[in-house]
Amino acid sequence: MSRIAYVDGQYVPHRQAAVHIEDRGYQFGDGVYEVIAVVGGHLVDEEPHLKRLHRSLGELRIAMPMGDAALKIVMREVVRRNDVGTGIVYLEVTRGVAPRDHAFPKAAQPTLVVTSRRSRPPAPRLGDEGIAVITIPDIRWQRCDIKSVALVANVLGKQQAREAGAYEAWQVRDGLVTEGTSTNAWIVTDDGTVVTRAADNAILKGVTRLAVFDIIAREGYRLVERPFTVEEATAAREAFLTSTTADLLPVVRIDGAPVGDGRPGPLSRKLRAAYLAHAAA
Ligand code: PDD
Repeated sequence: MSRIAYVDGQYVPHRQAAVHIEDRGYQFGDGVYEVIAVVGGHLVDEEPHLKRLHRSLGELRIAMPMGDAALKIVMREVVRRNDVGTGIVYLEVTRGVAPRDHAFPKAAQPTLVVTSRRSRPPAPRLGDEGIAVITIPDIRWQRCDIKSVALVANVLGKQQAREAGAYEAWQVRDGLVTEGTSTNAWIVTDDGTVVTRAADNAILKGVTRLAVFDIIAREGYRLVERPFTVEEATAAREAFLTSTTADLLPVVRIDGAPVGDGRPGPLSRKLRAAYLAHAAA
């Protein structure tokens, strides 16, 4: 079966799917995106993803290319046509095609692309053994709350992690961890409190993060939204990260130093299991 993509009103073979060379997403990174998990053929946390899409577009003053009801139909159709049981939906909206000029074009229709692919969730081994992160300076712009496709700093950071043999790079600004290059960052303190940075402009307000907040509230764990330093993270009892594609993974090494006893902590494991159950529900 060949892959199908949705591009501006049409379902087209993935190999031929294309946008114009003067699309502002291509030329300026002038667009936003969402990645939604597909589990058992259904879209996980679709509503909060759409809510964040609206917010990102609103902050950039880009119009929604279609209403939510229509977009949901398109996403389901792309999942169906690609026969995706477990995988992701990727959707991108840019300001559209116009002769290159930094200021907004007078008349441009937003471009909408929706793709879907099968992908395995992170290897269970990563959940069982945990992963390593490195820390790097956060060189990104000051509106990381917008899920912009302008990701070159994130790309450089992730590559640095790969080359260091780590899963992720935690970015550090003013001595405080902001987030990973494509994940949110968490620690568990000595008294069992779960800590993650409040959703200010320095981080993306992860949908997985919100789902984990709900689990923490439901299970009666303690949560504090505040920033933390690398030193605090390294000395923490546990650490973990979250995202649509990583789910929840225990962090067992930071810059080569073990977190706790160097193995996934009990709370990280419980939260991971609860999150996987939520995604499958
Ligand atoms: N990334 N922080 C950043 C910078 C991200 O890019 C992401 C998601 C997250 C976690 O958000 P969520 O829980 O909603 O997936 C945090 C996606 C998966 C990506 O770029 O592929």
